[in-house]
This record gives sequence, structure tokens and C-alpha cells, in this order.
Amino acid sequence: SRTLRLAVIPGDGIGQEVVAEGLKVLTAVLPSDVKLETAEYDLGARRYHATGETLSDETLASLKEHDAILLGAIGDPSVPSGVLERGLLLKLRFAFDHYVNLRPGKLLPGAKSPLAGHQPDSASPTRPEIDFVVVREGTEGPYVGNGGSLRTGTAQEVATEVSLNTAFGIERVVRDAFRRAAARPRKKLTLVHKNNVLVHAGHLWARIFQQVAAEYPEVSTDYLHVDAATIFFVTQPERFDVIVTDNLFGDILTDLAAAVTGGIGLAASGNINPSGAYPSMFEPVHGSAPDIAGQGKADPTATVLSVAMLLEHLGYAAEAARVEAAVAADLAERGPDARSTSQVGDALAARVSG
Ligand code: IPM
Ligand code: MN
Repeated sequence: SRTLRLAVIPGDGIGQEVVAEGLKVLTAVLPSDVKLETAEYDLGARRYHATGETLSDETLASLKEHDAILLGAIGDPSVPSGVLERGLLLKLRFAFDHYVNLRPGKLLPGAKSPLAGHQPDSASPTRPEIDFVVVREGTEGPYVGNGGSLRTGTAQEVATEVSLNTAFGIERVVRDAFRRAAARPRKKLTLVHKNNVLVHAGHLWARIFQQVAAEYPEVSTDYLHVDAATIFFVTQPERFDVIVTDNLFGDILTDLAAAVTGGIGLAASGNINPSGAYPSMFEPVHGSAPDIAGQGKADPTATVLSVAMLLEHLGYAAEAARVEAAVAADLAERGPDARSTSQVGDALAARVSG
């Protein structure tokens, strides 16, 4: 029998509630010969206030001994902005070299898109498909913390936040995106950047993209400036297949992607280390939502879909597909009555085991 060693970081706010439901569905869908071993890590605001720790080397070393990590949400109003985000979430992504931040933008049957022509009542055969995936670079760009402040607090204050872009870092994520595009039916890859203004980083991205493209003649390519890309996300999202972009553009674009594919309550993500040297980490794109935390109001679907990505990553493709199908069926049958977090989790768990 096989063992799946899963580290679980519920984190802050609604993280606890949604992760519990994700685990419910994971337990229900795993084949009976797979033994699920979970280790829960108390990280986030509570731990920080109690001990001052955001993420110690010891905790990192312990997390590393797992096949994957499931994370709920990080961030709390009681902690200054950036402390947990940088000291915990980004530290995990950087330490485990999660250079592929994979964020699908897929309008599932039953999900409600705000876009014209994508309403749930429009006849499905004519409803244009939104089914793309954003490959967001996860370890570089403006996220590295390369900057500083001068003359702080004076009228002459200056702050810099310098984006780091290495040929090594760009090439590996661009290669990953080409591999993913080549494996999909439409075989299309769009580079998104802003190389009319950010000429240094932008031209490096474009040059490496062109070089790798030569090795994938079967993949059709195009380029969009990030501002233009936001227009097409709304007016013509069906034009996208795979998108590769830098860390910050990818952050912004994937919130927009969530908005057009049924909302942030459905958006899943994987922070992937493709080499397998470190555990990959799966998390809903949404945050800790302190305003509704502890009330059983959060939709656990994004976490459940992140569990599907985790399953896919670990080679359980059939189980991943069952989770996605369960979510689609649940969405299609959602009535007007609000269900609690655990009711949604129970319904999805029942569907995957039934
Ligand atoms: C996300 C979040 C994070 C990011 C924050 C919380 C650091 O917005 O996962 O998209 O910017 O990457
Ligand atoms: Mn974000």
C-alpha cells in the first residue's frame, strides 16, 4: 500500500474551516490502498503572537519531509501587513523553490461568470469555453524584497522595489509553460509582460521565450502587454490557453481570472517545484477573509479544487478528475439557500465517494 504524507497549514481566518473540508474530500476520494498521513502545522497569526515565529528553519526542515503541503490562508489584521505574507507564505514559496505558480482559469459547467455570453442560462453548446491556465513565476520579480527606503518619514523619502529577473529563473518557468501548452489540445502559449516600458526585464523575457519557442514548433505563441491582457480577460477570455508571466503580473491577472470564472471562492492554485526536490504546496487563491472567519460561511470549493490539483500533481489523475466533476455537479445544482462551509464539504465528499 502507498502512503501520502501531507503537511497541512490551515493558517489564519477562514483557512482553518476550508482546509477541514478539503481534507474531508481528499479522504473520501483517495483509493483505499493509499494511507493518508497528515501533520498539522500551527503557523500564522496565533503562532506569531505566542512565540514571535513566522517560519523557523526547524519547521521548514520538518515540512520538507512531506509529499505535498495543503495551505488554507495567511494574513491577519492583528499583524502588520507583510509580516506573515513575507515571513511565512513567500518564505515557503522561495525556500521550496516553487517557481511555477499554477493557476487555472476554468469556467466549470454550473459556475456563474459575470461576463456577457457566459451566463449560466446561455445554451451550453454556444457558451464559449473559458479554459486557460496561468503559469505565474513564483520565485522572482518584484516579490524578492530587493529594495529599501531612504530618508524615511521625511518629505524627501524615496522607496525602491527592484524586480529581479534572471535568465535561469525565466528560462525554467518558460520551459514549464511550453511543456504544459504542448500537452494541451489547443497548444497555445501567450507571454504577458510590459516590454514597451519595462524594457530590461521585458526584453529578457521575450528573448528567452523566442529561444524556447523554437524547440516547440507545435505550440503557437503570442505576446500581450499586461494592460491589454486585462481587456481580453474580460472581452475574449476564450482566446487564452496557457499564459506565462512574471510574479506580480501573474498575481494581478489571476485575481481577474478568478472573477471571470465564478469568483474567488472557486479559484485554486498550486505552488509547484517541478523537480520534486521540495514538496509542492496547494492553496486557494483567496485570502483569510477575517470578516467572515469562524462563521461557517466560507466556500471551501477553492480549497477542494486545490486538493484536485494536489492529486493531479501526485499522479492521482482519476481522483483529481472525480473531485472536479463533483464540484461541477455541485455548482450546477446549487440552490438559492446558502449552505455552510461544512455542508458544502459534506456534499462534495459524498459525491466523490458515491
Ligand atoms: C496570492 C496572494 C499573495 C501573493 C500574498 C498574500 C503574498 O495575493 O497568493 O495571490 O501576492 O502572491
Ligand atoms: Mn494574489
